[in-house]
Amino acid sequence: MEFVFSSLTYLLLFVLTAVLLFLIRDELKTKQVDHRAGLVDPPAPKAWPIIGHLYLMARYKVPYRVFDEIMADLGSVFRLDLGSVPCVVVNGLNNIREVLMIKGDHFDSRPSFRRFNQLFKGDKNNSLAFCDWSQLQKTRRELLRAHTFPNTTSNMYTRLDTCLKTELADLTDTLDTMANTECVDIKNMLLHTCANVFMSYFCSTRFSRSYDKFREFIRNFDDVFYEVNQGAPCDFLPSLMPLYHWHFKKIRSWSSKIRNFMETEIFNKRKAAWVPGTKPVDFVDNLLDAVTQPDRDDGFDMDIGLFSLEDIIGGHSAITNFIVKTLGFLVDRPDVQRRIQEESDAVVRASGSVGLSDRSQMPYTEAVVYESLRLIASPIVPHLANRDTSVDGVRIRKGTTVFLNNYSLHMSPELWNNPEHYSPERFINAEGRLEKPEYFIPFSGGKRSCMGYKLVQLLSFCTISTLLNKYTLLPVEDVSYAVPKGNLALPFVTFPFRLRPRNFRKQ
Ligand code: HEM
Ligand SMILES: *[C@@H]1O[C@H](CO)[C@@H](O)[C@H](O)[C@H]1NC(C)=O
Ligand SMILES: *[C@@H]1O[C@H](CO)[C@@H](O)[C@H](O)[C@H]1NC(C)=O
Ligand SMILES: *[C@@H]1O[C@H](CO)[C@@H](O)[C@H](O)[C@H]1NC(C)=O
Repeated sequence: MEFVFSSLTYLLLFVLTAVLLFLIRDELKTKQVDHRAGLVDPPAPKAWPIIGHLYLMARYKVPYRVFDEIMADLGSVFRLDLGSVPCVVVNGLNNIREVLMIKGDHFDSRPSFRRFNQLFKGDKNNSLAFCDWSQLQKTRRELLRAHTFPNTTSNMYTRLDTCLKTELADLTDTLDTMANTECVDIKNMLLHTCANVFMSYFCSTRFSRSYDKFREFIRNFDDVFYEVNQGAPCDFLPSLMPLYHWHFKKIRSWSSKIRNFMETEIFNKRKAAWVPGTKPVDFVDNLLDAVTQPDRDDGFDMDIGLFSLEDIIGGHSAITNFIVKTLGFLVDRPDVQRRIQEESDAVVRASGSVGLSDRSQMPYTEAVVYESLRLIASPIVPHLANRDTSVDGVRIRKGTTVFLNNYSLHMSPELWNNPEHYSPERFINAEGRLEKPEYFIPFSGGKRSCMGYKLVQLLSFCTISTLLNKYTLLPVEDVSYAVPKGNLALPFVTFPFRLRPRNFRKQ
């Protein structure tokens, strides 16, 4: 927290000394209007010198709400200068589609934030989510597809089902043997469960809950996940960078410890044992197979492979945070819990446990996942225009950062009945089946769409229904369950739950 305050003081001083300079610059700028091609320049609210429109972002708890207000004045595509970073905000389903689909090739880059680059040896192109588009990214996405989007007839699907069932049994066994379930740090428990699902699925290995190096590894990942979900003034004001020296050092240390664990506990042994030409079984095999292909020209090598593996393993933190937030919604909604329990009781009665193939019989539980996504889904990864282009007839210059305002897609009273209200029923149609409106795209779309969405859906519904099959969630006295919206991350230490064992019997 301190570095934010000190940076604000710094900022104010800076602003005062440079006002004059910037007034002159702004004067020059307004003269460069260009009316070619019938495009109009994006309108912008009043900007402050140096910090531009950053002052607007500071006004709201959910910063994306500010976009809706500006849109009411300026229309659906407008410019915001966030410090030194020129941005446009694109609102509305059709305009968002234009960015993601119709002109997907114009907007497939990412802005470069030095803070995030710290996680990838200073180079965003090492990252799956923050890199620019290239042949390398195409290769990575193709390599991952069979693992992150296993189809129901593939070996990977069966494999995932087994990993998930094993880890969920471990979770409920561990909970069963706990002397006290009156105040359970469920996030910590679930981080281990989800990390082991990912470890066993992608790397064919798992670790004990009591292994201290694994605990530290999980903690580092969760700190990274929290970090990438926060905005920081230095992303937009490079002059503040010196103030972040220690913070950047901390970020680099998380990622180097993660790398160290991956190498010493997993990758080095696998690399030594790898026989070229063997049929790959897990993702590590696929990576080793890919880097040993003789005539690669896309830059895919061992180091990049390891970064991709880490990136994907890090998905466990996203899913855990999402599940814990969902439990936060459920804790004071016994009616919603009861409906999930009805579905999971039927499945468990028939087959002993919840598995991936039971999803089609649990539309309500699925709807709970959708409804939580609607309220939580965060507009994290912005896009960047890689050429001069336009959206809805509004000019967007090369290098402009593009924010897609999905907040209104999820929260607009025109699209949703009573949008502030938590109601999974809105996703269930008259025939009792799950129905997703076309404007609900929490994982985005197009060539940079989320690579983990299938895993999110599969792990969340299985974990939530397995937990609720065994327990009813109750609030711990005096704990606030206000689930932060518009952002996926929760602090490492967050709300605990009371778990009351149910007397449901399998037979
Ligand atoms: C509830 C959890 C999650 C939500 C709501 C979510 C949502 C998103 C969104 C909105 C994007 C940006 C797409 C765009 O730029 O157009 C994204 C990108 C991405 N997500 Fe997720 N995600 C979640 C979990 C995961 C998980 C578990 C994984 C990995 C297993 C994952 C992997 C990725 C990757 C690699 C990208 C970047 C893709 C690219 O830039 O090419 N996500 N996600
Ligand atoms: C990242 O990759 C893109 C596309 O290949 C390239 O244009 C850009 O210069 C690279 N950025 C860095 C920092 O290497
Ligand atoms: C499902 O996956 C398997 C193995 O990855 C693949 O051979 C098959 O073509 C896929 N089927 C469909 C319908 O995509
Ligand atoms: C939400 O906004 C982010 C950031 O601009 C974008 O990457 C993502 O695609 C958006 N999601 C939807 C549902 O439009």
